[in-house]
Amino acid sequence: MSVPTIHRVIDFINKAAGIVLTTEKAYFIDARLSPVIREENLPSIDELMNRAERGDRRLAQRVIDALTTNETFFFRDKSPFEHFKTIIIPELLARRPAGKTLRIWCAACSSGQEPYSLVMILDEMKAQLGGRNVEIHASDISESILTKAKSGVFNQFEVQRGLPTKMLLQYFTKDGDNWKISQDVVRRVNFFKFNLLDEPRALGTFDVVFCRNVLIYFDRTTRAAIFERLADRLAPDGYLLLGGAESTFGVTDRFTSHPKERMLQVPVPKRAATMPAAAVRPAIA
Ligand SMILES: C[S@@+](CC[C@H](N)C(=O)[O-])C[C@H]1O[C@@H](n2cnc3c(N)ncnc32)[C@H](O)[C@@H]1O
Repeated sequence: MSVPTIHRVIDFINKAAGIVLTTEKAYFIDARLSPVIREENLPSIDELMNRAERGDRRLAQRVIDALTTNETFFFRDKSPFEHFKTIIIPELLARRPAGKTLRIWCAACSSGQEPYSLVMILDEMKAQLGGRNVEIHASDISESILTKAKSGVFNQFEVQRGLPTKMLLQYFTKDGDNWKISQDVVRRVNFFKFNLLDEPRALGTFDVVFCRNVLIYFDRTTRAAIFERLADRLAPDGYLLLGGAESTFGVTDRFTSHPKERMLQVPVPKRAATMPAAAVRPAIA
């Protein structure tokens, strides 16, 4: 692949998805796009980029799908799911009247293990929910990964990563060499395509947002803009969960740590966040 072609792809994926790739990733780009040109019967990556840039939306989506990294697994990193179960849900239940719907958004859900992990947790907590409805919305920019997520079909390797055997037996059935998660679980998740570079206002307000292991692919300016929009989408007493290598620290003043758990982010009221520090500091007597 020539240097100009590499730069073309780098610029395209940055504009389309916010993902920052460098020239050192030339091998990755080639390995991901070569199967696409073969399948599409195109002579070169340049021709693929010509068409993607000139408005062939299907091919543009194929480039995005090929260049996104969809690594995920059930109950990834364990602690966010523990915090969901032991801090977030109990606190929300205490503050929200019975009959109120709780809304959760997995904002880069990949093949669905994250929202499905939440459905299984909520199913086990059913008795504590007091009949409250919990909506689980899950989005990703990649159409191919959303198709896989909606299928609810996982291979042996995928169900061996993070999923307790008890849950595998309870929620999955064998499907040839694969495992299929129960339709009751699949139906609990509203999967949809959403680009984190876009304005999410139309999605409404959420009590909890999982935005995990995606911001690492973006630059600081993009992360700051996404934090801003996520803060606007969260209830004032909502929660944001990030990946282990991601932080709001030094990027935005719209979030602060939960008093009980540093890794849990909670919104700072907009006015306080944008006020000069001196104006929000308590007066010294
Ligand atoms: C590494 S996976 C993380 C999945 C899951 N949240 C987890 O922590 O296991 C990152 C996901 O972010 C998605 N992604 C990348 N750029 C995106 C964007 N601009 N908007 C929405 N999703 C994006 C990718 O398609 C991929 O599925």
